[in-house]
Amino acid sequence: MPIIYDEARRCFHLYNARVSYILRLAAGSVPLHLYWGPRVRAIGDDLLTRLSRYTDETFSLHETPLDRLPQECPTFGMGDLREGMLHIVQADGAHALDLRYAGHQIAPGKPEIAGMPSARGDGAATLTLTLRDAYSGLTAELRYTVYEDVDILARSLRVVNGGDQAATIERAFSACVDFQRSDLSLLTLSGAWGRERQPYVRKLVPGEQGVSSVRGASSAIASPFMALLAPDANEEQGEVYAMALCYSGNFKATVNVDADWNPRAMIGIQPFGFSWNLAPGEAFETPEAYLCFSAEGLGGMSRTFHRFIRRYITSGKYARAARPLLVNNWEATYFDFDEDKLLALARTAKDVGIDLLVLDDGWFGRRDRDDSSLGDWTDDLRKLPHGLGGLSDRIHEMGLKFGLWVEPEMVSPDSDLYRAHPDWCIHAGGRMRVEARQQLVLDLSRADVRDYIVEAIGAAMERGKVDYVKWDMNRAINMSGSEKLPPERQKELGHRYILGVYEVMRRITSRFPQVLFESCASGGGRFDLAMMALMPQAWCSDDTDAWMRCRIQHGTSLVFPPSCMGAHVSASPNHQVGRSTPLATRAMVAMGGTYGYELDLTRLPQEELEQIAAFNRRVKALQPLLLYGDYYRLLSPFEGNECAFMSVSEDRGEAVVTHVTAQAQPFVQPGLLRLRGLNPDWDYRDEDSGRVYGGDELLYYGLPLKTAWGDYAGQQFHLMRVTD
Ligand code: GLA
Repeated sequence: MPIIYDEARRCFHLYNARVSYILRLAAGSVPLHLYWGPRVRAIGDDLLTRLSRYTDETFSLHETPLDRLPQECPTFGMGDLREGMLHIVQADGAHALDLRYAGHQIAPGKPEIAGMPSARGDGAATLTLTLRDAYSGLTAELRYTVYEDVDILARSLRVVNGGDQAATIERAFSACVDFQRSDLSLLTLSGAWGRERQPYVRKLVPGEQGVSSVRGASSAIASPFMALLAPDANEEQGEVYAMALCYSGNFKATVNVDADWNPRAMIGIQPFGFSWNLAPGEAFETPEAYLCFSAEGLGGMSRTFHRFIRRYITSGKYARAARPLLVNNWEATYFDFDEDKLLALARTAKDVGIDLLVLDDGWFGRRDRDDSSLGDWTDDLRKLPHGLGGLSDRIHEMGLKFGLWVEPEMVSPDSDLYRAHPDWCIHAGGRMRVEARQQLVLDLSRADVRDYIVEAIGAAMERGKVDYVKWDMNRAINMSGSEKLPPERQKELGHRYILGVYEVMRRITSRFPQVLFESCASGGGRFDLAMMALMPQAWCSDDTDAWMRCRIQHGTSLVFPPSCMGAHVSASPNHQVGRSTPLATRAMVAMGGTYGYELDLTRLPQEELEQIAAFNRRVKALQPLLLYGDYYRLLSPFEGNECAFMSVSEDRGEAVVTHVTAQAQPFVQPGLLRLRGLNPDWDYRDEDSGRVYGGDELLYYGLPLKTAWGDYAGQQFHLMRVTD
């Protein structure tokens, strides 16, 4: 097993062929962080004597050396005056925690996290290190899982109250790494609605920096991910240390640079607005965090995350399967549709080779605008005289699949559900109920609310005989209060809500294993690893403009593979930014994700429909490569006028390269695009032009591009290894 315990030095070495992670018990009891980086045989350094004047024999907590030592599970009150990973207030009000080694276990596989999605652990090995505070009886189990085939270390924390007094957890991060280097920069993904996951890099400075959410969801504003970059790290080379969290609620990813310029990086549940009461005998588990070390820059980091997500996170029928090409009626009709319009859209879709029609918002209650009916999941017979079932039958008869939009977590104040159960929404006593998009949020910490959702959504899915579900969530959540929780548990609501979401999603997805589920939150407002574990794809952004999508998909691809990113061709001029782009560019960019359409096909001229039919044939032929190949970012749309990316098959014999130029310019020489991931010793044929290139030529000299004519021109190349 790739975990060694060196009894003499009291060191744990977790490793695979490329990466090592080493921790050490100081004086046999306090776990110190020694190393994370390229694979080493061992580290001989005696941390205690190098960083303090102590040895194992003379180590004394009374003289507070912990403040300057790198630790695995820093707490408060024992001499470390930096912000810690775990903070617990005990029955007497004290909040000092003295965690010492109490035992460990090394075992194959990986434990599941109670109530939360987490990675599979087949073939992996886990170290569980148990620490105990003798005074209170509280224990912390630090869990580290090593994978041999991907450079990921999964970490989580389980706190058990083994004492006889209640305790309150005020913070419990999932992972903490105390780096011993001061030259790192921080990369995070931030944004907003319509411009999600834009990368930002800044040099670390003393003090606190990072990203977080208190919006009730992982959010469009910040992603539960961060990476620390060595000074020379770029897309292709250099050391990168990344952390990503498998969690959809309020989170915090933070780096605190101390007096020695050493960064402490932590990721986990957002401590602000959170606490958790732990009665004697109870346990609390954090979500799982994934630590990724790459010596091959950001590109290496991304391909590691992509492989990990494909192998260990996404599950079910569609995890590695072809995805249906869909058309969604949202931007085609908004709320203004009826059965005839939908059937006309479906007929055109069928003619051009689309597989699935998705009926978006507006099919239920009396929802003609976004101000009513959420929660009333009954068919609107004014628009659908034959109900969902009748519509679905007609669509299935055409040979298309049928998909449905739902927003299960929400309730409109103007709805029968709200009139019947005004207490079912999140609210703080008699205070104002804060609406957003004229809706309130159902309190999913309540079992009766969860049961209602499972029942109502399950019934609609059955009525509609649906093949696909778009599960939306369209507002930020003030986790202000729950009617069912006692006062001392009100700050548990944020986490309990997310546990409720996971339970409801699990109950519904396991009841309909044949259905493809896509998550959504006003676009990419809850785009995280936990969502991907439950639903294999997510709507990347409501912004479908091709150039904005180049940026959004570029940032998103830092962590997520194309198979997770919903990407559609929409109308031009675009509905979000008013920009006009060529149809071919919109299609090429959408091929960087799970492909579909979001426009009224019935209004397109025959010539465009023929183009669309050709794109669809291309996507179907190339889908395994586009969705599941190795992904390389070639040119960043954040750095210039161009964007380029490519997917390469695992055997390196096939690749698809996409290039977009934003503004056309006169009198420029055609460019050369240096490719990645190919075999230099093989020849490759461009399947469209028939031209043959050496792999070495494409890697080191470059692929000749056409000069862009018109703004936002796209070009795409399908390269196949020449074997004849
Ligand atoms: C959100 C989604 C859109 C659409 C609308 C419907 O904004 O992101 O794709 O489904 O809701 O109201």
